[in-house]
Amino acid sequence: MKAIHIHGRGGPETLVYEEAPKPHPAQGEVLVRVYAAGVIAPELTWDTTYQTDAGQKRAFPVPGHDMSGVVEEVGPGVTDIRVGSEVYALTAFERDGSAAEYIIALPSELAPKPRSLDHRQAASVPLAALTAWQAFFDHAKLSAGQTVLIHGAAGGVGVFAVQLAHWAGAHVIATASPRNHDFLRELGADEIIDYTSARFEDVVHDADIVLDTIGGDTQERSWSVLKKGGMLVALVTPPSTEQAQAHGVRYAWFVVEPSREQLIRIGQLIDAGQMKPIIDTVFPLAQAREAYEQGTKGHTRGKIVLRVHDEGEEE
Ligand SMILES: NC(=O)c1ccc[n+]([C@@H]2O[C@H](COP(=O)([O-])OP(=O)(O)OC[C@H]3O[C@@H](n4cnc5c(N)ncnc54)[C@H](OP(=O)(O)O)[C@@H]3O)[C@@H](O)[C@H]2O)c1
Repeated sequence: MKAIHIHGRGGPETLVYEEAPKPHPAQGEVLVRVYAAGVIAPELTWDTTYQTDAGQKRAFPVPGHDMSGVVEEVGPGVTDIRVGSEVYALTAFERDGSAAEYIIALPSELAPKPRSLDHRQAASVPLAALTAWQAFFDHAKLSAGQTVLIHGAAGGVGVFAVQLAHWAGAHVIATASPRNHDFLRELGADEIIDYTSARFEDVVHDADIVLDTIGGDTQERSWSVLKKGGMLVALVTPPSTEQAQAHGVRYAWFVVEPSREQLIRIGQLIDAGQMKPIIDTVFPLAQAREAYEQGTKGHTRGKIVLRVHDEGEEE
């Protein structure tokens, strides 16, 4: 099969499109023929990715952990997944990823692909939507009527965060550059702040939750917009306990985890028309390097996706 391999440490220049052995599912595993894969551009720089459970670096790992495809083969002991099923998933970072023609996944990661989406749209959902879901519902315990500030609202995580917070009945304040304002209003943002010309801390007060997908200075300036007892949910920079205490607020810092159950719920919301994926650009698998280069520029609207097989294409 063809796959993208990471050769050494660095950025998109380390990605190589080349031949790789087709994997076979072991006990409890599933082999999926990948139709499309989501691009997670920052993963190339994450220190803990591409390690074995024992903490050793894997040689020539495959990036990408978002995927949509069709079950090709099930390993011994897998009884609840059928060959031929259309599935989508976020797969664990410890194994080879989805920038390849085939991927090994676990049943606990796989959910039925939303019926209303094609594979490319479906592949853009799992990591971003699960991150937003886990931020709001597992960590911040978002409830209707709360005020939520979402930084980086037009990005991969942001577009799902805006839609989920709106669906949950929150008052949604989003930060984005002007070219994204109309689009974010359509997704459910109630107020939008142009981060290029205004300081959000001058505008927002007494927020219940801040979702920080930017980090650094944006996070530093976010403490003061929270009400006492509010929560900063950080995805990029680990927050300071001292700052949280000084402002009388709480924080959460987490790494998204695969979840079949949550992807089923997300798929139901999508099929019911409550939420939709946003695709910025689709690249063929062979051009993964260009796809990751575009992703690392930091101005993606929604997600970049790799096209691996065409729908209806025979093996
Ligand atoms: N901890 C976890 O489990 C987890 C999970 C997923 C992602 N992440 C991390 O979260 C971050 C965001 O991921 P992503 O995929 O959503 O990123 P992304 O798609 O690359 O985000 C790009 C968006 O950010 C906006 N943006 C850039 N600078 C901004 C600023 N100062 N204020 C407001 N918006 C700004 C851009 O809007 P304009 O074009 O309008 O500038 C663009 O729409 C990444 O660092 C990623 O590694 C962490």
